Amino acid sequence: MKIFRLTLLAAALSPLALSSALAQNTGKIKVGLMLPYTGTFAALGNAIENGFRLHVMEHGGKLEGREVEFVKVDDESDPAKATDNVNKLIKRDNVDVLIGTVHSGVAMAMAKVAKDTGTLLIVPNAGADAVTGPMCAPNIFRSSFSNWQPGYASGEVVAKKGHKKVVTITWKYAAGDESVRGFKEAFEKSGGKVVKELSLPFPNVEFQALLTDIAATKPDAVYTFFAGGGAVKFVKDYAAAGLKKTIPLYGSGFLTDGTLDAQGADAEGLETVLHYADSLNTKRDNEFRLSYAKTFKLQPDVYAVQGYDAAQMLAVGLKGVKGDLSKKAEFAAAVEAAKIDSPRGPFTISKAHNPVQDMYLRKVVGKENTLVGIASKGLTDPARGCKM
Ligand code: PHB
Repeated sequence: MKIFRLTLLAAALSPLALSSALAQNTGKIKVGLMLPYTGTFAALGNAIENGFRLHVMEHGGKLEGREVEFVKVDDESDPAKATDNVNKLIKRDNVDVLIGTVHSGVAMAMAKVAKDTGTLLIVPNAGADAVTGPMCAPNIFRSSFSNWQPGYASGEVVAKKGHKKVVTITWKYAAGDESVRGFKEAFEKSGGKVVKELSLPFPNVEFQALLTDIAATKPDAVYTFFAGGGAVKFVKDYAAAGLKKTIPLYGSGFLTDGTLDAQGADAEGLETVLHYADSLNTKRDNEFRLSYAKTFKLQPDVYAVQGYDAAQMLAVGLKGVKGDLSKKAEFAAAVEAAKIDSPRGPFTISKAHNPVQDMYLRKVVGKENTLVGIASKGLTDPARGCKM
């Protein structure tokens, strides 16, 4: 028995075994991008990929010294296809890490598979509270936000403005529900009342009947979560219905991020809350914005920042384990101890692996979400249900 064990040890340390272990830590890293490249969130998926690639390009095409190979899947923001898509990346393509996605329902399916298989997952947008709540795990991280965060900070802002009676309107799925829940928690704590919660199925954009309902209800203000193509249409329809002049519209900042070219004057003056703004005017953000604009001939938005930071978090973790992604606890410890030097401003990662970050109040001026001020400093998601 002793001899057998010694033989095993010798085999483990043979030059061949040693060199293949080294190759594993220094060879290419295979990154699986599972993002929407079609549908209402297509632009968001592209911006995330651009942001991720920008960080890699700035480091000579490498992450912590390892060349990066990308494998891509269009998840179509379709939860029904999510489990198959993520399994393809893990089983067929053998990715080392999963980066995805935008849609909360798809992200929850990814998180379930990541948890079951132990695959490293970094979520570069989807805010599903569960991902850093009941589904939290040592190998699951988020570079973006929880749906609760901008919702809660918005509730405080709208209450401070003196509004008492609010109608909410959103898509009926995790992101919309949780954004409204976070809003309501803060708004009602401050004495306000959500008098009506309106919704329509994702990704529908037939807003007319709901806008008629808002006009008839006459609230002091409206709070909304929409994003991507749906946000463009909602802002335009809200203005066309004549509501912009009579009932102030607030939202989590996705309402006006990456959408202003298409929304034009209909978005002018809208105030929203998010963990990014276009005019932060810090050295870090100015450099990022210039680099992004030069590389992609596009202006960056919050999604680009989240993609960039997903790459930064992966680099920090890789450094902590000297490239050996099988060291999951050490990887997590390195990310948890890091301060991520984000264009949004530096942030840390909570024990549940969600960013602890400032939430900004922004106002649309021309083609920019300009900074008004900090709505909530270092806001930490409560991570309800996370046992880790
Ligand atoms: C989400 O589904 O969690 C989601 C989608 C788009 C956003 C933000 C959140 O802009």
